[in-house]
Amino acid sequence: MKIKSFAPGKVILFGEHSVVHNRPAIAMAIDKGVDVELNSRDDNIITVTIPVINYSEKLFLLDNMIDYNHIHNNMITDYVLEVISLFKFDKGFDLEVNINMPLGVGLGSSAAVTVSCMKAISLYANEDYDLETIAQKSRNIEIAIQGAASPIDTSMSTYGGIIYINHESKLNRIDFDMQLPIIISDCNIEANTGKLVESVRLKYVEYPEIMTNIFDAMGLIADNAKIALEEGNSESLANLMNLNQGLLDSIGVNTFELSDMVFTARKFGALGSKLTGSGGGGCIIAYAPDNTEEILRQLNLKYKAFKCEESKKGVQAQIIK
Ligand code: MEV
Repeated sequence: MKIKSFAPGKVILFGEHSVVHNRPAIAMAIDKGVDVELNSRDDNIITVTIPVINYSEKLFLLDNMIDYNHIHNNMITDYVLEVISLFKFDKGFDLEVNINMPLGVGLGSSAAVTVSCMKAISLYANEDYDLETIAQKSRNIEIAIQGAASPIDTSMSTYGGIIYINHESKLNRIDFDMQLPIIISDCNIEANTGKLVESVRLKYVEYPEIMTNIFDAMGLIADNAKIALEEGNSESLANLMNLNQGLLDSIGVNTFELSDMVFTARKFGALGSKLTGSGGGGCIIAYAPDNTEEILRQLNLKYKAFKCEESKKGVQAQIIK
């Protein structure tokens, strides 16, 4: 038996950081993600390979489960092993995890790995989890490994599409017909999300009134962006991205490299551009319906940039034979 699965990564379009302070946000699943291939075996061996990090491991089934101690190594392998440890198997399998997206730069790669593995492995274990169970169990794994995790990443990888997260962290899908070509550019500096979230909290403690107004403005931006997406208003969407970027700068999560990428994108024709995710490193997004190739060329002179679109689909799997 062969099972293939795919789960998308994500970008936050609006509302990073303010979402932690209960304001709305908008995230989009992207057409880059994680492909998993599972091939059944006739013995009690499980092999795991992750080519992009040169990882391969052999595990043995004992009473139909792996002997796993839940000690984490701060590696993407932690997520895979946590998923495998949830299930009982009659026979082993070979699992190959192909991470076809940048790793560890705020694009939800760990969630995409977890969700894609959860789908393929639950199918193999005859449990075939539904989407709600996949999202919930994947989030539990992110919390166990990272200490805290918003539901955004695992939900995007599970459900796909564009999701509006309201002030109560309830996720609602936005349906719209607008094409949303996005350029992502990665400055190759890893950011520590926990530290950045903490630095923003400390600013809030120091300047509660100012920060409340900034978070409120970020929330209004996300609400207006939802309307812009529903109405297909690209000019408004781009303006709102630029407004959001200014406010993210004001709360201290912007960096020289992120600014450089934002202004390079704008200089060569992007209508809107902003950092995405926690800031402090990682990626920017640029909304550029025209001039895409030139913007990509300019960004790629110094950084790693690529095109992406919305992935309307979330996690999916096929049993090949
Ligand atoms: C990180 O990708 C986005 C933050 O808003 C944190 C979170 O929502 O968990 C900074």
